Amino acid sequence: MKVTGTTGLKGTVNIPGDKSISHRSIMLAGLADTPVKITNFLHAADCWSTIDCMRALRVRVEQGDAGVLTVTGNGFYGLREPHEVLDAGNSGTTIRLMTGLLGVQPFFSVMTGDASLRKRPMARVITPLARMGINVKGREQSRYAPLAILAAEQIQGIEYDMPVASAQVKSAILLAALFANSPTIVAEPMPSRDHTERMFETFGIPVKREGNSIIIEPVQKVDAPEQIDVPGDISSAAFWLVAASIIPNSQLVLVNVGINPTRTGILDILTQMGADITVTNERWSGREPVADIIVRSAKLQGVTIGAEIIPRLIDEIPVLTVAALFAEGQTIVTGAEELRVKETDRLKAVVLELGKMGAAIDETADGLIINGPQKLNFASCNSHHDHRMAMALAVAGAAAQGVEIEEPDCVKISYPDFFSILAALRQE
Ligand code: S3P
Repeated sequence: MKVTGTTGLKGTVNIPGDKSISHRSIMLAGLADTPVKITNFLHAADCWSTIDCMRALRVRVEQGDAGVLTVTGNGFYGLREPHEVLDAGNSGTTIRLMTGLLGVQPFFSVMTGDASLRKRPMARVITPLARMGINVKGREQSRYAPLAILAAEQIQGIEYDMPVASAQVKSAILLAALFANSPTIVAEPMPSRDHTERMFETFGIPVKREGNSIIIEPVQKVDAPEQIDVPGDISSAAFWLVAASIIPNSQLVLVNVGINPTRTGILDILTQMGADITVTNERWSGREPVADIIVRSAKLQGVTIGAEIIPRLIDEIPVLTVAALFAEGQTIVTGAEELRVKETDRLKAVVLELGKMGAAIDETADGLIINGPQKLNFASCNSHHDHRMAMALAVAGAAAQGVEIEEPDCVKISYPDFFSILAALRQE
């Protein structure tokens, strides 16, 4: 896929549904005994992995006009033993959250994923679940998928201090906690995205928050809403926020962007860098706040991105690295070692691939140092099969002399229309 440099981006982008919320909407709706309509669901490969898994557990998922889904579960105890191995594909959210949900079921199941997912750490989920009485085994002393999940017997609630701020780990525990015989308390080192907690409340499940802890009492059923409207994904909007900021003569209106405060680190950092961003028309989409965002080109400055904000922009570091290359002065990223266990090692991948365009970026154990501005040249760069790498490289190319992206199809994981929208927004 060749992306050439452009003189400006202009137009309006309807931001596709939030990936994290789409996954959770299917899982919770699958535990209900009344149908749930889901609008603006993200029809991308990761979320379809969750649909396929839930279908294998006998949840009905039908697709109507405009991609609207109707999910019909068989009640809180209605999941059934799958006849086949469940495939989470590339999706960490699918495998980790489903492990929590499957671990409490009275049947056996096996989960796997693609080559990338089978290299990602699973002990972080298996360890707390084991303390609840859940029996999951994996490859290499239960470090990696495939995972074998044994039929549950007694599940007890736990008090758990999470060693890493991970919404996926937290959510796996909270899902299992619904089926336990006593309350569960999960403490986070830093707040991670709270879409599971908000979705629980949408389904009538009480959530208690005390300081950095979340307390869940077991339930016997969920009270499903008739409809869930998924907000647009700020992690997808991030590519347009950076692109319009660094490409001169740009102005974009991003419609229906989720602005849950656990996700808006990108807005805070870009604003600190001097970006011209206006958040308007703030409203609610169920329990999630949304807004429209106007972004115009601006002169950016370097910034310090420290551990405390990382969970709020964890998926935005590749594209923020591109922003930093166009900013005046130094940008330092620290406390971002979690990036090494994403779809690829994103610290290594950004240094290597943007390096092919001529960027000089220092890789540290837990972050990056970027001295800007830097001149980027045309080059062939590899996505490492990582959707966010592919899109970050496209933004860099569009803002500079162009780029040839090898293995671009991975954008289907979270943003299938990304390249066609980029083409439509270009001014020349
Ligand atoms: C996600 C949580 C984050 C994020 C991922 C989606 C979620 O992962 O990087 O893209 O939906 O809960 P971690 O919880 O592992 O940090």
